[in-house]
Amino acid sequence: MEKIKVLISQQEIEKKVSETAERINRDFKDKKLFVISILSGSVVFCSDIIRKLNIDFELDFIRVSSYKGKNSSGEIKFIADTAIDMKGKDILIIEDICDSGRTLSYIKDLFIKRKANSVKICVLINRNSEKIKNVDIDYMGFNIEKEFVIGYGLDCDGKYRGLPYIGKLED
Ligand code: IMP
Ligand code: MG
Repeated sequence: MEKIKVLISQQEIEKKVSETAERINRDFKDKKLFVISILSGSVVFCSDIIRKLNIDFELDFIRVSSYKGKNSSGEIKFIADTAIDMKGKDILIIEDICDSGRTLSYIKDLFIKRKANSVKICVLINRNSEKIKNVDIDYMGFNIEKEFVIGYGLDCDGKYRGLPYIGKLED
């Protein structure tokens, strides 16, 4: 059995989720929000966030993939699209982790091309990588260093998504 080191505890995540949802409630008060969760990694974070929203919102999903094991293939594969017509809508993209920012900037650009009124980004984790990020994160959870992380929706080859905390595999 692999050893896992806890980096962000369940309690820390819960606190951050509440704070983030409160900010979203405040910012989108009196508006209709369209939440788009990027499958599969963000599904746990997103379902915790939406249960704390007290605003009018709809939820849909898109699926993209770029990682194999601990490495990015560098290429974004679009696997499933949302059925929501974005024209004039206020969109909030929810993502598990931002590394190079390639996935998020690709998706944000796509939604802008579809003429959304606004596109905001909420991520649970931002990795401080030396890679250039060309995307602004509006709602940021935690910053981490270089390590590859698992748990709370994040996987390594499809495993560990159900852990209630964020950790890393120890060698
Ligand atoms: P980016 O396009 O380089 O920003 O990579 C973001 C995507 O890579 C996320 O949607 C994740 O699916 C995946 N990813 C990046 N780092 C990790 C990690 O540490 N654990 C699990 N998945 C990761
Ligand atoms: Mg992902």
